[in-house]
This record gives sequence, structure tokens and C-alpha cells, in this order.
Amino acid sequence: MDFHVNNLDLVPAGRSRIGWAEREMPVLRRIRDRFAAERPLAGMRIAACLHVTTETAALVRTLVAGGATVRLCASNPLSTQDDVAAALVEEQVGVFAIKGEDRETYYRHIRQALDLRPHITMDDGADLVTTVHEQRRDLLPGLAGGTEETTTGVIRLRAMARDGVLGYPIIAVNDARTKHLFDNRYGTGQSTIDGLLRATNLLLAGRVVVVCGYGLCGRGVAMRARGMGARVIITEVDPLRSLEAVMEGYQVRPLAQAAEEGEVFITVTGNRDVIRREHLERMRDGAILANSGHFNVEIDIPSLEKMATGKQRLREYVDEYRLADGRRLYLLAEGRLLNLAAAEGHPAAVMDMSFANQALSVEVLAKGDPRLKPDVYPVPSAIDAAVARYKLEAMGIAIDTLTPEQQRYLSSWTEGT
Ligand code: NAI
Repeated sequence: MDFHVNNLDLVPAGRSRIGWAEREMPVLRRIRDRFAAERPLAGMRIAACLHVTTETAALVRTLVAGGATVRLCASNPLSTQDDVAAALVEEQVGVFAIKGEDRETYYRHIRQALDLRPHITMDDGADLVTTVHEQRRDLLPGLAGGTEETTTGVIRLRAMARDGVLGYPIIAVNDARTKHLFDNRYGTGQSTIDGLLRATNLLLAGRVVVVCGYGLCGRGVAMRARGMGARVIITEVDPLRSLEAVMEGYQVRPLAQAAEEGEVFITVTGNRDVIRREHLERMRDGAILANSGHFNVEIDIPSLEKMATGKQRLREYVDEYRLADGRRLYLLAEGRLLNLAAAEGHPAAVMDMSFANQALSVEVLAKGDPRLKPDVYPVPSAIDAAVARYKLEAMGIAIDTLTPEQQRYLSSWTEGT
């Protein structure tokens, strides 16, 4: 079996940490038990480009229990947990991922995952799908479909569909309500703060934290930073979301103004060049820059490099840039996803729901619905509802049901008072 991981001596540590994560993933465990009995993925080959974390290992094990052969590569060069990669190899999964791999290795690993000649692709950011379309078009006829995990990937895939170049159907797992309302908000919120603290050991109480982008991820980060006592400023380009932030009690400012006030800046927009030279020039000495959006393009790092007269690594994820005027700016995790680079990514309990959607979406694709054309599709609403129901059940939380009279009332236009 082909694989490329850092160190197979890490197998016991990886196995133990995967077990710890799986304790927090009851919905996925339930799906795995059914998959093991029914084998709905028998004979399917799956290439997955996902963050190689303990939670992803739990997902991969679920797919394997369903009968699939899986190859896994990383969706970010810094997010791989080497012990997890090793433990999966021990379980006969072809893993191609090493934490800190360079750009060339990152793309070579993607190509090696595709050498499996998959029926299904699973992506987080759409690098796998774009590689298929740019370099491995021979695989297109054999592809039944794919899944996409994150906002940025869904945006790229919709652009491909709009331009008429998408070659096979994709299910946008990110857009399931049981995914983005929880993973993006509570997952990114908590784990980004976790990454910030692990990287810097900063005291957040009393600090001015600027969150760029008030989408689902942004509101999670803002909420958790405020919960730890930070004064949070939001920057946005969308009037409605800006208004939501204002009414949540945050200060909302243009970044040019916030740049002068902020002590910590966290970008979560999914956009490029959000923090640019003109902002860097206004920042105070000691400002900390971090990103939790998918790609490392939100902070204009090339400009920061040009402005700097010197640079040194102070801690594992902290680079100091000295500017000509004497100011120092600190960039965390090279501007890559802070929560996955400096911490462990989202907690397992939230990935339980995201990856339950992934596993059930893969099952839909494996069944091969002829109505699915090359386009981007939502997760079937029945799956979304089932994931919420399973999660509540696993948490031991019962809820009310509508009475027949209430159902009638809610579907009628004749009943007023
Ligand atoms: P979203 O679309 O809900 O929110 C993005 C927000 O950024 C929007 O409100 C948009 O108006 C705003 N924005 C765009 N350009 C801006 C600019 N120049 N200045 C200020 N605001 C701007 O997206 P979501 O779900 O919050 O995701 C954001 C990014 O985080 C994406 O790249 C996504 O893939 C990534 N992501 C990262 C995760 C992680 O583990 N770190 C987990 C989930 C998503």
C-alpha cells in the first residue's frame, strides 16, 4: 500500500487520540454501526482531501466500515496531525500528509490521492476537485460525485458550475444547517481562540480584538473573544451583517480606523487582501495578526515581507516583523488557519455533525442518483434533519412535537384569531 507520512512510531499516540475524539462523536458512531452492518460503500474508492485530524480519522474509519477504500491527503500544509496520519496507515488507509509539507509536496500528495482512481472525492477547499479538472481529466468519467466541506470550497465550486466547467456533481456539505450553523460558529469560534492562546499565551481580558468578517465563523470568534473579556471590533463589507454586529453590541468600523485601535487582528472572511499595506502602516507597535479563513491570502503577507527590515521566529507559531519605523508586528502561523495550525482544529463534538453530513452525503453519491448532473447540490434536507435529531438524542435532550391541531393551524390561512 502506498503512503507518505512523517513517522510510524507515532501510531500508538495517534490511535489513543483518535479514540478520545470518537468518544465525542456519537452521531458518527451510530452511522458507522449501520455502515458496518449494511456496507453501503462496498467497492467504492474515495479520495479525500481533508485536514488530517483525529475527527477526520473517525470519518475515514466510518467510510472504511461502510466498505470503501480511502486515500487521504491534507487540505492544508500545516493542519496535519502526524500521529493521526500514522495511525490511519496502520489501519490500511493510504495517507499522504506531513505537517509542514512544502507547496510542491502538498500538491504531489493530492495527485497521489487521486492515483486511487476514485469514484468519489471529498474536499475541504476544492483543491482536489480543481486538480482533477486541471490535471486528471481522465478521472472524470469514473467520478460519481464529490462532497465539499467549507465555505471557500463551495464558492469555488459554484464558480466552476457557473462557468460550465464542473465535470461531476458535488454536494455542498458546508451549506447543511447542521454543519455551518455549528461547525463554522462554535467550532471556529472556540478553536481559533484556542490557537491564539496556544500560539501566544496572551491574556485576552481587556484586549482590543479586531475580527474581520462577521459571517458564521466571524460571529463565533467575536463571541468567544468577548466571552474572555476582550473588547471586540468588527469590520465588514456587508451592510446587513454589519448591522447584526452593531445590534449584538460590537463596535463596527472600517478597517482603516480599526487598524489604529486593534491589538489582535483575526481575519475570517474567505476573501483576499483584507489586511493590506495601508492597514499595516497604521497599526500600533506589537499588533498581532492571525487568520482563520481557509487560505493564507487574507493578510497581505507579501507586503508585510516587503515592509519588514528584519524577521525572526520568536515562538513556534509567532513570527516577528520589524519595520523601518521601529514598530514590530507579529504574524501567527504564517497567516494559515490558526485553529488548525496552532491548535487541534474544531472540537470533536461539533465535527460529529459536520462529518455525519459527510458520511451520509457519500452514501447518497454511492447509490448513484441519475438525476445528479455536474452541479453543486445541497445536502438533502432529510439528512440535515436526521443529524440534528441524532445529536439531540445522543445528548439526552428530548423536545416537544406539534399536536395535530398545531400542524393544521400552521399550514392554514383561514384560521386567524
Ligand atoms: P461567510 O460567507 O459566512 O462570512 C464571510 C464574511 O466576510 C461575510 O459576511 C462577508 O461579507 C465578509 N467579508 C468579505 N470580504 C470582506 C472584507 N474585505 N472585509 C471584511 N469582511 C469581509 O463565511 P464563513 O462560513 O464565516 O467562512 C469564512 C472563511 O472561513 C472561509 O474561508 C471558510 O472556508 C473558512 N472556514 C474556516 C474554518 C476553520 O476551521 N478555520 C471552518 C469553517 C470555515
